Amino acid sequence: MWVFYLILVLAPCYLQWSQGESVVVPGIGVNWGSVSSQPLDPPIVVNLLKDNGIKMVKLFDSDPWTISAFSGTDIEVMVGIPNDQLKKLSKDKDNAEDWFKHNISKHVNDGRVNIRYVSVGNEPFLKSYNGSFNKITYPTMQNVQRAIDKAGFGGKIKVTTALNADVYESHSNKPSDGRFRGDIYDIMKPIVQFLDEKKSQFLVNIYPFLSLYQNENFPEDYAFFDGHGKTTDDKNAHYNNMFDANLDTLVWSLKKIGHPNVTITVGEIGWPTDGDKSANVKNAERFYRGFLKKMKSKKGTPLYSGIINTYLFSLLDENTKSIAPGDFERHWGIFGYDGKPKFHIDFSGEGQEKTPIAAKGVRYQEHKWCVLKKDADNSKLSDSMGYACTNGDCTSLGYGCSCANLDKTGNVSYAFNQYFQMNDQSVDACDFEGLATIVTNDPSEDNCTFPIAIESGGNILRAMQNVGESNYRR
Ligand SMILES: *[C@@H]1O[C@H](CO)[C@@H](O)[C@H](O)[C@H]1NC(C)=O
Ligand SMILES: *[C@@H]1O[C@H](CO)[C@@H](O)[C@H](O)[C@H]1NC(C)=O
Ligand SMILES: *[C@@H]1O[C@H](CO)[C@@H](O)[C@H](O)[C@H]1NC(C)=O
Ligand SMILES: *[C@@H]1O[C@H](CO)[C@@H](O)[C@H](O)[C@H]1NC(C)=O
Ligand SMILES: *[C@@H]1O[C@H](CO)[C@@H](O)[C@H](O)[C@H]1NC(C)=O
Repeated sequence: MWVFYLILVLAPCYLQWSQGESVVVPGIGVNWGSVSSQPLDPPIVVNLLKDNGIKMVKLFDSDPWTISAFSGTDIEVMVGIPNDQLKKLSKDKDNAEDWFKHNISKHVNDGRVNIRYVSVGNEPFLKSYNGSFNKITYPTMQNVQRAIDKAGFGGKIKVTTALNADVYESHSNKPSDGRFRGDIYDIMKPIVQFLDEKKSQFLVNIYPFLSLYQNENFPEDYAFFDGHGKTTDDKNAHYNNMFDANLDTLVWSLKKIGHPNVTITVGEIGWPTDGDKSANVKNAERFYRGFLKKMKSKKGTPLYSGIINTYLFSLLDENTKSIAPGDFERHWGIFGYDGKPKFHIDFSGEGQEKTPIAAKGVRYQEHKWCVLKKDADNSKLSDSMGYACTNGDCTSLGYGCSCANLDKTGNVSYAFNQYFQMNDQSVDACDFEGLATIVTNDPSEDNCTFPIAIESGGNILRAMQNVGESNYRR
């Protein structure tokens, strides 16, 4: 009898333990951004990474609480320098040294945080930035490198810049016609030479989802890795997925600019689960299953063989990200805002239907929601709805999204609740000219979840610091 009892008690622990030990495909890391109304506390997130065996992380800034949470772990960290800091750091060597002293030194001096890369800027050459960062990115890379060398970390911490795949193009869509974009060719040349000389890496963000999103005629199967659909041939190389073709366009571009041996790392790749008709759990599962299997095989692409280091995008949903590119922007997480896994993913690349381990120790706010009153005056709804959506998050209400099937009342309630939760369930945030009321019965329907906000130390910290931390957020 006690043997039986023992097995019952130990089995769940064993299962968790064996999952926690499960090996992630070598070279696979994650992006961790925190552009959220209530970001998960860094110690909780670092434990989430450890529980799931993730060993590489890319950050978008150098927030001290976040970086110090890695203290004593062997997780490899890439810190980011946001675009809005480039101007200052490009101007003066001393500014770069100050940046290193204040934000990095204390974490690496005693060797407690394993910082390996600094990414200078985030997609600084995006066409939509109109060239604002063209002249200052490379000088910042040089200044930061000098600061690192001066502090004696030149051998360990490498400088790079996270670039969007739009820095290169091919007029024929064949990889062999690939070439860095004309308007930034002269800017890319010294950067690529720098990455080559310093044995750093070319960091590129590749998004098959965006190709599908931006082009109605894009062959859907080409975004995935199942080998269906048609194959493009190019000088003895065969392409049956967009990722391979895109990465090899970079390989050709590097070759033509005179630096064929630069290491390529994928800075961001992933699939969102909401905010567009193609952004759903089914597609995300299919994408990651195919991609992780491919990475496990170490075959690389037709022209770039071997392991390709990759940071998946993204670890968590971020509900205050800009939706200028599209409503899907707030739904890239493998885990939700509260650290719960959103779909099956097998980080080992074996393609099993596995559920990753959820974040532990997450505290939710009270079980209450804000909804539209039953007898509300309809004439005032649209203004309130507009206000709630502009200042909250309605990205799950659109066509093909998780809450698209709500009726008009449900729709308004959803918008009100998002605003209410994002404002820490403040009573004032559930007024809307008397149209709204707080309830304790969960209004969620089918696949449409009305969330409850989590408790976040980030909010308290921000309030106490009373500084414009938003400056450091994308
Ligand atoms: C980083 O360093 C700069 C310059 O010393 C400083 O102004 C800033 O507050 C630091 N923190 C972050 C998160 O960048
Ligand atoms: C870039 O230019 C466009 C058109 O002139 C403008 O609408 C946009 O605000 C500019 N963006 C930036 C980041 O300057
Ligand atoms: C690139 O690496 C290959 C193989 O190691 C070598 O033969 C070649 O000279 C290198 N090319 C350059 C431009 O460094
Ligand atoms: C719900 O709201 C969304 C976003 O504002 C809108 O696109 C949709 O048409 C609305 N649905 C109904 C039934 O009103
Ligand atoms: C809910 O989501 C699942 C999985 O994506 C889907 O199969 C199902 O049809 C959805 N249900 C509704 C009512 O939309």
